[in-house]
Amino acid sequence: MPALVKFSVCRKRRVLVSLEKKPQDALDREHLAIFDAYLKSPYLSIKHTSYFHVYERLLKPLVGRHITFVEVGVYNGGSLFMWREFLGPNARIIGIDLNPLAKRWESEGFEIFIGNQADPAFWKDFAARVGEVDVLLDDGGHSNLQQIQTVVSMAPFIKDGGLLLVEDTHASYMMQFGNPGRHSFMRFAFDVVDSINGRFPTIKSSHNSLAQHVSSVSFFESIVAFHINRADCFVSQPTSNGGTTLDATDYRHHETRGRSIGLLRDRLARGYSGLAPESFAARAGARLFWLLLFVQSRVANRRAGKLFGR
Ligand SMILES: C[S@@+](CC[C@H](N)C(=O)[O-])C[C@H]1O[C@@H](n2cnc3c(N)ncnc32)[C@H](O)[C@@H]1O
Repeated sequence: MPALVKFSVCRKRRVLVSLEKKPQDALDREHLAIFDAYLKSPYLSIKHTSYFHVYERLLKPLVGRHITFVEVGVYNGGSLFMWREFLGPNARIIGIDLNPLAKRWESEGFEIFIGNQADPAFWKDFAARVGEVDVLLDDGGHSNLQQIQTVVSMAPFIKDGGLLLVEDTHASYMMQFGNPGRHSFMRFAFDVVDSINGRFPTIKSSHNSLAQHVSSVSFFESIVAFHINRADCFVSQPTSNGGTTLDATDYRHHETRGRSIGLLRDRLARGYSGLAPESFAARAGARLFWLLLFVQSRVANRRAGKLFGR
């Protein structure tokens, strides 16, 4: 047994002791098959206690199925065994690492690719050799470039219904990863969310390249899950059920923008609707309308801002 592995087994015992002494949070509340698989793995893996219930919920539907599961970051091999134990013998499990020693796990039935996750050429070659995958989990180097390049390169190769998972996203808030900053991974993830909302037809915005693959995004403590489903990535259209109208007044803005200003705005909108659009009165009315809307929004946003609680 190589020295590294001996050391790893010792380290693992220490980790187990600390978990037993201080049982925590989600691990206390529910019995998790993935945590059993984690403890059962013969080689070292270090995960946070908040990760297991997330993976159990997201990945349980895939248990027992013929899926391709890719993990970036092999380290001591512990998580490869955990995934195999949890997902079952039908899963094709692929590990990726920069460290060529990771190849040793091929003798245990895992497929191993050696390469740099920050290198788009590596991903191009990987996709050409492996094809589409069901799940990719990034637990590699955790830098912004590594995490972002991984999801950008692999999003087109995740099957519909599949997942792109990024672990340890707390790196986006840590100085040793050059964060926080405008180009952190979490900023990138929020940009994907902006692009998803940009599918609403009247919102004009440029789209993040992931928007054509990602139907939704789930955020957890230190984990981001991109749900891939291209059929759901469409521009929505308004519909009506054609039911009877009672011509009810729309009170949407009265509450937040102040009743008197709301009424004045409605009056302006109604009063000038019969005018020729190019007439001076119509244009002045429209300007006043937008000015009122702007002032109302600023006032309401100040109140909303106080609710952020910072
Ligand atoms: C946190 S460890 C992975 C732990 C493992 N997934 C587990 O749970 O047991 C991170 C691994 O990522 C690898 N790594 C770091 N930078 C990388 C890169 N640019 N490309 C590929 N792998 C990288 C390291 O060699 C290391 O083995």
